[in-house]
Amino acid sequence: MADRFFVEGFSKKNKEQKIDWLRQTYLKNKPEDIEILKKYWLPDKHLQSLHEGFAENTLSNFTLPFSIAPNFPINGKLYAVPMVTEESSVVAAAAKAAKFWFEHGGFRAEVKGKIKTGHIHFFYDGSPADLQKFLDDHKQEYAERLRPFTENMEKRGGGIRSVELENHSDKLPGYYTWTFRFDTADSMGANFINTILEEWSDYFEEDFAREYGLKPEVVLRILSNYNPECLVKVRAEAVISALKTGMSGEEYARRFVKALDIARVNPYRAVTHNKGIMNGIDAVVLATGNDFRAVEAGAHAYASRSGKYTSLSNAFIRDGKLIFEMEIPLALGTVGGVTRIHPMAKTALDILQNPDAEELMKIAAATGLAQNFSAVHSLITEGIQKGHMRMHLNNILLQMNVTDEERKKLSDYFRNKKVHVRAVKEKLEEWRKNRA
Ligand code: MEV
Repeated sequence: MADRFFVEGFSKKNKEQKIDWLRQTYLKNKPEDIEILKKYWLPDKHLQSLHEGFAENTLSNFTLPFSIAPNFPINGKLYAVPMVTEESSVVAAAAKAAKFWFEHGGFRAEVKGKIKTGHIHFFYDGSPADLQKFLDDHKQEYAERLRPFTENMEKRGGGIRSVELENHSDKLPGYYTWTFRFDTADSMGANFINTILEEWSDYFEEDFAREYGLKPEVVLRILSNYNPECLVKVRAEAVISALKTGMSGEEYARRFVKALDIARVNPYRAVTHNKGIMNGIDAVVLATGNDFRAVEAGAHAYASRSGKYTSLSNAFIRDGKLIFEMEIPLALGTVGGVTRIHPMAKTALDILQNPDAEELMKIAAATGLAQNFSAVHSLITEGIQKGHMRMHLNNILLQMNVTDEERKKLSDYFRNKKVHVRAVKEKLEEWRKNRA
């Protein structure tokens, strides 16, 4: 297809040439966009070139706020949690919830497992018993052959934990998997897992064909982002009579539990409820250089594990206490990937006092539960918009080109009022007219 926007060999152009190509094509009448791309280059050339190494065809940087939610009490230790998010109310809400739970004994978090999974997906129309025999005959030998790839991981306490044959022929004729379970120590482990799977499947295809005269068709060799055995549990408990929320403790706890019950039974609410949890978790995952897409995919799959999408968190009343808890799979790492290479991710991990993967799972889960608490608290009390709009005012002002003096005056004026774009615009125009 001939198209004047088609470009050959784009990746071979240098950065200036790539931007120049945009200037002549998609950004023809937009010199301000070209300028913005350049404005976001880091003045430190070394850092800029490091960033450019993270992805192909990098033209500039896309920055997001890096913030801190202090006073996070988790297992008796106080953390300042680094968060990267563009959503204006998220960090304030996390910090508020951290302070609230600080006064009620903090969060208790526990890692229930750290096992990750990966599969070799293949088709085969012979006897399943031959596959099982093949596995029994070769398991040990393959573990030895893989030693060059596994020895480092084993030194760090990880490795392959099991390999099993799973027969899925009832769902898809001839479909099987070699299902692997791994411990990847403090790394997220994607490269390790995929390397092992690819090596193992090469051995399998060749050896099986030779020994059984039948070639299985391997279609995919890939880790799974569904890791129900890589699980963290977090819980917070408040004595109901000690709850200070503007309504009686009993009334508050009752409404809180009802809100959670709604999320449990109604998938429309559950998705939004869980999105609130992920507001906190993603912000920590991003700040620490982890893979937020993997975490998101895995969390929502876990929320559907019963066959029906439901809330990840749960609340109930027992012995005069409001108990609020969550179990969530979080495949996180504190070594490997960009966790130590991206200077901001390294700084985030330093702020967290260099946690291992398990500790980071606990921190992220507690931040998610805190975020969920803040959202539900707002929803069952003053509603979500008041707090949101207060923060949103800032975004409106940013779009309106106001002076510092006008910003201060407008922030004061709208402190206890409903905020919407028209009201802010009208107030600003009124003041400007009066001043003229
Ligand atoms: C907004 O980003 C998140 C909330 O919608 C979550 C919730 O409703 O629980 C406030």
